[in-house]
Amino acid sequence: MSERKPFVGGNWKMNTNRTTSAELARAVVDGLSSVSGVDVAVFPPFPYLLAIKSILRDRGSSIKLGAQDVYHQPDGAFTGEVSIDMLKDCGVQVALVGHSERRHVVGEKDELINLKTRAVLESGLECILCVGETLEQRLNGHTDSVNQRQIRTALAEVPGEQIDHLTIAYEPVWAIGTGKVATPEDAQDAHSKVRRLIETLYGSETAERIRIQYGGSLKPGNASEILAQPDVDGGLIGGAALKGADFVSLVRAAAQAAQNKD
Ligand code: PGA
Repeated sequence: MSERKPFVGGNWKMNTNRTTSAELARAVVDGLSSVSGVDVAVFPPFPYLLAIKSILRDRGSSIKLGAQDVYHQPDGAFTGEVSIDMLKDCGVQVALVGHSERRHVVGEKDELINLKTRAVLESGLECILCVGETLEQRLNGHTDSVNQRQIRTALAEVPGEQIDHLTIAYEPVWAIGTGKVATPEDAQDAHSKVRRLIETLYGSETAERIRIQYGGSLKPGNASEILAQPDVDGGLIGGAALKGADFVSLVRAAAQAAQNKD
């Protein structure tokens, strides 16, 4: 068994409606009722958080409720934003920060992502910090420097004792929603360098403990080899998380991969 329990997240993005989000949640809960050894979270759109929380609670599920984004200010005149306390009030346990669509579609900068990361971790919620390079950056050989910059700036002033609540998701932007997936070797290479950076910043014990998810077009047909890599500790799933059976199969693949790692 790997020392690190894998962690698989289903990021529903701006998909589903009131009916289909509930159906998806039920399918995931029922499909995973006999699966153990993996932490699982689902990230529904904000308007459905409370309804999905009820489904998870009523079925006694250990699946965590996640938020796709947060705002770092506690309250006030921030039209359209959602505070951490509001999310906690809805039963949210884990929040995504710095997802590539927040960075590249909405235009969030590293400094804002740092404020959000600090606020989430200070609040006691779990945080999944997403990082990754664009295709142009990869072609120019900047994959590792981009990951390093995004992680260093996001974690500026984050104390070591909060890192146990942090997961990093390495999600190459060119692989998200495109059907192109990193090779297992490329994923392992990027993940091991992320882990070394955490070692530099927080020491070797923290680096060995932190979970690093891979994200980007993971599907039941391509996931096993990536999840088998020594520094890949689960996945953050977008498109395939919208099909209950596919998501369940990806969680099972992560459980199997962890069992095969010594
Ligand atoms: P994808 O999305 O699986 O659809 O590529 C992954 C993500 O954005 O987290």
